[in-house]
Amino acid sequence: MAPRPAPEALHDQRPTGDIGALARSLFTDGPLLPRLMQHHRHRIAPVARCVSLVPQGSDLLDIGCGGGLFVACLVAAGRVRSALGVDASASAIATAQAAAGRLRTRVPGIEVRFEHRRVEEGLPAGGYGAVSMIDVMHHIPPQAQRGAFLEAAGRVRAGGVFLYKDMCDAPVWRAGMNRLHDLVMARQWIRYLPIEDADRWAAEAGLVREVAEEHAMLWYGHEIRMYRRAAEVAR
Ligand SMILES: C[S@@+](CC[C@H](N)C(=O)[O-])C[C@H]1O[C@@H](n2cnc3c(N)ncnc32)[C@H](O)[C@@H]1O
Repeated sequence: MAPRPAPEALHDQRPTGDIGALARSLFTDGPLLPRLMQHHRHRIAPVARCVSLVPQGSDLLDIGCGGGLFVACLVAAGRVRSALGVDASASAIATAQAAAGRLRTRVPGIEVRFEHRRVEEGLPAGGYGAVSMIDVMHHIPPQAQRGAFLEAAGRVRAGGVFLYKDMCDAPVWRAGMNRLHDLVMARQWIRYLPIEDADRWAAEAGLVREVAEEHAMLWYGHEIRMYRRAAEVAR
């Protein structure tokens, strides 16, 4: 029997293109500050690394998709065959829909949709080959975090992955810098979820941890996890 590839070998390391140029071409209107955040997000967050962790040809559910930058990167890189983004912010969804309209002129026929909804209201039915939740959990009230995590994990079908990323809660100065960022940008006092809780809840949901990474970019600290649900064994 052929040896199983190491988990790292399953993650495509191909370059993801110029994310800044893509963002500048898609996010061309609306208020300046959110627009600049999209244009420069790849400088403060490991967007390319997250893109590389989504299996080629996935059908994706992106929870807390914001203005749709992550979905756009995946479409532009040809990594997803369909994508559905959901977000609690109506203006973020409007931005994502406008960006998707521009993207469609370059990648005709792509199946990309965005929906306005909070994860606590429940997620669209069905199972997905890839579910992502990037920098969302610290915006969710602590009493709703476990439910939101399990709701997301529950949408991963057999053999699929759950890409979870959030801002680190340590060291204190990095966590504090991000807290300041969210006070200014989201006008919100955020609540970090310890990454150990995410690992525990993933195991509860029947997922296996495949990737665990920390990235520091400028004064921001990031924690990435990729969990996988075992494939069904044919009888
Ligand atoms: C820091 S942004 C990240 C956006 C996107 N995931 C990205 O990486 O570019 C956090 C997003 O989570 C959304 N969000 C916060 N609470 C949410 C909830 N309860 N349900 C769904 N989305 C939520 C916010 O509206 C915001 O767009």
